[in-house]
Amino acid sequence: MTDLRPKTDRTFAFAQRQLRHLIETHPDHFPIYTVNGKWIHGGEAWTNWCEGFLGGQLWLLYERTHDDYWRGKAEHYSRLIEERKTDRTVHDIGFLFWSTWKRWYDLTGDPAIQKVVIEAGRTMGLRFREKGRYLRSFVAEESLFVDVMMNVGIVFYAAEQSGDVKLFQKATDHCLTTRKYLVRGDGGTSHEGIFDTQTGEFLRQTTHQGWRNDSSWARGLAWALYGFGTAYSFTRDVRFLQTAEACADYYIERTPSHGIPPNDWDEPNPALPYESSAAAIAASGMLNLAKLTGDAARKRLYRDYAFRILDTLTTPQFLADETLGWEGILMHGMYHQKKGLGVDESVMWGEFFFLEALGKAAEYE
Ligand code: GLY
Repeated sequence: MTDLRPKTDRTFAFAQRQLRHLIETHPDHFPIYTVNGKWIHGGEAWTNWCEGFLGGQLWLLYERTHDDYWRGKAEHYSRLIEERKTDRTVHDIGFLFWSTWKRWYDLTGDPAIQKVVIEAGRTMGLRFREKGRYLRSFVAEESLFVDVMMNVGIVFYAAEQSGDVKLFQKATDHCLTTRKYLVRGDGGTSHEGIFDTQTGEFLRQTTHQGWRNDSSWARGLAWALYGFGTAYSFTRDVRFLQTAEACADYYIERTPSHGIPPNDWDEPNPALPYESSAAAIAASGMLNLAKLTGDAARKRLYRDYAFRILDTLTTPQFLADETLGWEGILMHGMYHQKKGLGVDESVMWGEFFFLEALGKAAEYE
């Protein structure tokens, strides 16, 4: 197995320099993507879903270094988003609170911190539509996003911790609906499903960030791969494990041997060959799956493949430490190609899942 230790040490040292620069030059701001390698704020966001990933990285740096500077900053950036625990406008409450307040709670066991996580999870649960049985996306009542699979974990958690059986069932039903309508027979995924809000009937698959309605957008599939693994860890429902494995197998079959997919696997000759944030999410999700699966061959496959992705992402082609003036950590990410947002840039969630995956990989060494 690849020895990632020297590259991991170098990457975390570089991440500390980049993040210190970011929070000291743009205090209390939450940039989403770079433009020509420089973090911007005030750029078009499309939706407000990324504000947990900066605090999340600060928690990851504290967990790795035990340096009180990072602890202070992590707490500060977590507190800055606390009011979002009641935000009903987005489907991203898990992204916000799982990467920040949940990490904080796991370190401290403080019930006041856990209360915030539970409230955030209950807010997320309010997105549930009885007709169709799914947690609706931010776009419209009729819309189910595959991305929500990364935000259903906090609903399971809130339900479990507060003994709310009905809420747990809603989270389970959301996963079953996503599995039924957004995951295809070959393990590929659709970005969005549209429902008839009157009857709950599923109407069609669509996309915002992928190539076509019938194609597989790489980051969406990575969200599913990771999210169905999380759903399995809460429910132990084997259908969710099998779905996560099908997505992981699709990723491995369709991606070149370096492990980094394009923005969409189905687009012929894409102008940009890489979507590094999807690779970082997939690596982190596969490291989870390697622990969740009971099958020894799959365990090795997912662990080794995640290491391969990380080995590639820590080369100078992707890691920005040899690219003068670049303010992000990981290059060649993609936010929203059609809208021209964060195209071939560093993206805040890419940074977070890259560091998260490297941290998990270190546990294997
Ligand atoms: N809105 C989530 C994503 O761009 O993946």
